[in-house]
Amino acid sequence: MPLPKAELHLHIEGTLEPELAFALAARNGITLPYADTDELRKAYEFTDLQSFLNLYYGLMAVLRTEDDFADLADAYLARAAAQGVRHAEIFFDPQAHLARGVDIGTVVEGLGRALDRWGSPRSNEAESGGEAAHGISTQLIMCFLRDESAGSALETLEAAKPYLAPGGPIVGVGLDSAEVGHPPAKFREVYEAAAALGLRRVAHAGEEGPPAYVTEALDVLGVERIDHGLRCMEDPELVARLVREQVPLTLCPLSNVRLRAVDVLADHPLPAMLDAGLLCTVNSDDPAYFGGYAGDNFDAVRTALGLSPERLRALARNSFTASFLEHDEERRAR
Ligand code: HPA
Ligand code: ZN
Repeated sequence: MPLPKAELHLHIEGTLEPELAFALAARNGITLPYADTDELRKAYEFTDLQSFLNLYYGLMAVLRTEDDFADLADAYLARAAAQGVRHAEIFFDPQAHLARGVDIGTVVEGLGRALDRWGSPRSNEAESGGEAAHGISTQLIMCFLRDESAGSALETLEAAKPYLAPGGPIVGVGLDSAEVGHPPAKFREVYEAAAALGLRRVAHAGEEGPPAYVTEALDVLGVERIDHGLRCMEDPELVARLVREQVPLTLCPLSNVRLRAVDVLADHPLPAMLDAGLLCTVNSDDPAYFGGYAGDNFDAVRTALGLSPERLRALARNSFTASFLEHDEERRAR
């Protein structure tokens, strides 16, 4: 039985496996610039965040209809459920779809169909012959692309208004894409507007960008969690603050290796971060590209870093503590 866990750093577009990419391309009459799934997988020779993002945005061309987004989320939730994920806070990139003529309604309605289906344990039980299948509670976090303009982020928030009501599918906003040269403060206004709408706030910071971006995300954007945050370890004062305030960090170990934030998993600072008292969680980021889903990331750090069963349980517990679930929901999800 895999450890029950919450996944808090997961880009739904990053769950697009080569097989599904080819199936959706065929359904939509799109020709991919790869002969087959093997050739596509061979293109995963990332050297940094940008080289990954080039492929990630390119492959999104196959996502066009509500059905495509429903199939994408369905495939992710099936894999996540099998690896013990009980709750997922799922990022999506509306601007990357709008740029291709796919509006936010198509994305949210399509994803929502799969999320609703998996939100109910009963439907899964029926499919798995009544075995101990469980549902997955889900929330959506809409990310702004930090290499786009602040004005575009504001327009995106406006376009999302129909889906932002309390109890609606989108609970928060995030910030992703190319980090260096795009400091958090660029997005002050849209984060203020999101806060006024009662949305939760997170941001990628300290993945490739400097520790100062982590501080800025906290102080200027008012974020409640930092996505990645790895480079905080270069600044002891920042570490002390993150520990004192128990700001959750959503780490993605396999992603860090594939994007060369660390050379090899055995060098990952996760043990040092836990020793320092940081509230760390383990997540998959873009699992179709980085070689593993949430449970695979847990298995990888256990093997490469020799984490004890108590530490792994603490990481799983942290994932619920750091989630946006209310306390009673959190208890039920565990
Ligand atoms: N970092 C920044 N932007 C992203 C990532 C990431 O790891 N994955 C998808 N968009
Ligand atoms: Zn990410």
